Amino acid sequence: MKITICIGSSCHLKGSRQIVEQLQYLVAENNLKDKVELSGTFCMGNCVNGVNVTVDDKLYSLSPETTKDFFEKEILPKVK
Ligand code: FES
Repeated sequence: MKITICIGSSCHLKGSRQIVEQLQYLVAENNLKDKVELSGTFCMGNCVNGVNVTVDDKLYSLSPETTKDFFEKEILPKVK
């Protein structure tokens, strides 16, 4: 599974960096490094809804506060 986080300037201001760090931590903590690939992308052209994150091309809107929840609900059930 591939998770792509927007690191364009608008999403950056909304905390995309913290989201990347949280996801890296959660992936490592759950031993998912061989199942989940994290990557960054520049502006997705959808800044108002940022921080934009795609999971295998499905779009989500996250904030640092919702990242853990997102991971537990959307990622873990699909990889376990
Ligand atoms: S900066 Fe993320 S969609 Fe524009």
